[in-house]
Amino acid sequence: MGINLGDTFPNFEANTTEGKIKFHDWLGDSWGILFSHPADYTPVCTTELGLMAKMIPEFEKRNVKVIALSIDSVQDHQGWSQDINAYIGREPVQKLPFPIIADEKRELAVQLGMLDPAEKSKDASLWTARAVFVVGPDKKMKLSILYPATTGRNFDEILRVIDSLQLTACKKVATPVNWKVGGECMILPNISSEEATQLFPKSFRTEKLPSSKNYMRFTPQP
Ligand code: BEZ
Repeated sequence: MGINLGDTFPNFEANTTEGKIKFHDWLGDSWGILFSHPADYTPVCTTELGLMAKMIPEFEKRNVKVIALSIDSVQDHQGWSQDINAYIGREPVQKLPFPIIADEKRELAVQLGMLDPAEKSKDASLWTARAVFVVGPDKKMKLSILYPATTGRNFDEILRVIDSLQLTACKKVATPVNWKVGGECMILPNISSEEATQLFPKSFRTEKLPSSKNYMRFTPQP
């Protein structure tokens, strides 16, 4: 099982640290990130959830709602949240600034293809991988990244891709390697030069290449 880019994200129901949710209702008109964790009370996950708690204002600024998933109970999530808050130097309360789904039967983990393929052949203590799903306000999946349990994620990169996804959702550009907000963008290959001149009156530059094919067209970020 799994879900592909462009698919409508399942409108699942789940128990979370903020009560029962139905995913599409919870998302409303926002962008969303669902990110999964192998298990509660594990070290790398604690660093990840701690950093996410600190970075939440950056996601809010971008109109992105955040929800975590782990395969333990709400009660475990609450106890673990105390540790996470203490780890980042905050009051050890049982709540984080985003909900955590309690996927105790791993039903969502299976439905969304979050199981670590390298762990699949092992026993019942199968870990979920570190999945990141970005969902648009149209409820469609815009991005998915799957990390193994042993590699923590880079949340600066997650913010960077959200900036790119939000820009390219409304402008006819793509973002090149290591792009950051304010950096030059590239005109989509399916746009003719005539159309590009109209769409990007601030001009664009075309890289001269041995093939003489004018496909590398850069423009300031629209
Ligand atoms: C961790 O979060 O530290 C972790 C969880 C499962 C496997 C490896 C690391």
